Amino acid sequence: MKTIHLESIDSTNSYLKRNYKELSNFTWVTSEIQTHGKGRMNKTWIGSKDALMCSTIINHEITTSNLSLYPLLAAVSLHKVLSKYINHLMIKWPNDIYLKDKKLAGILCESIIEANQVHALIIGFGVNLNQKSFNDELKDIATSLYQYTNQTYDKELILNNLKNQLTIDLNAYIQNPLNTIDYCNNYHYLN
Ligand code: BTN
Repeated sequence: MKTIHLESIDSTNSYLKRNYKELSNFTWVTSEIQTHGKGRMNKTWIGSKDALMCSTIINHEITTSNLSLYPLLAAVSLHKVLSKYINHLMIKWPNDIYLKDKKLAGILCESIIEANQVHALIIGFGVNLNQKSFNDELKDIATSLYQYTNQTYDKELILNNLKNQLTIDLNAYIQNPLNTIDYCNNYHYLN
């Protein structure tokens, strides 16, 4: 899997959307800074160097009928990776990761569809890792791994874990889709 490391970009999702024709399946891109990070529902996603911001592109064997499984899989994989560092993480529908009623990570999936043909799906992950604090707007709703453990985390290591885990989970899903759904049900956050 090719990984492109950038120092600064508007949004890693937007980068993949602009370049999808030239990029191979499961190319990953990460950036230290995003100037126009995007969240779900047209919201801005504010990330800093202390967060892991990365996206991947899937452009093989993807159809309008299997499109909806990927956001779920992405949440399952991210939940598994982060659960190596901290317990009690939950998956909040559709694909946020929550820690004790605060958001630890979000996922933004965007697809490029023309004439009912899916050209690409882009999955972007924003993970709060090493932030010591958040601004007034976020402090009551967001948290980071650092805030819970007082430790700092290696972004590269977590990215590598995520790359591997997503590949494993995709294969597992193909073998038996029920495992993924059971996993989600076990960690589903209700509020
Ligand atoms: C959400 O919680 O609403 C989704 C947040 C997704 C943020 C990530 S950061 C990397 C990728 N690039 C973006 O512009 N957004 C996603």
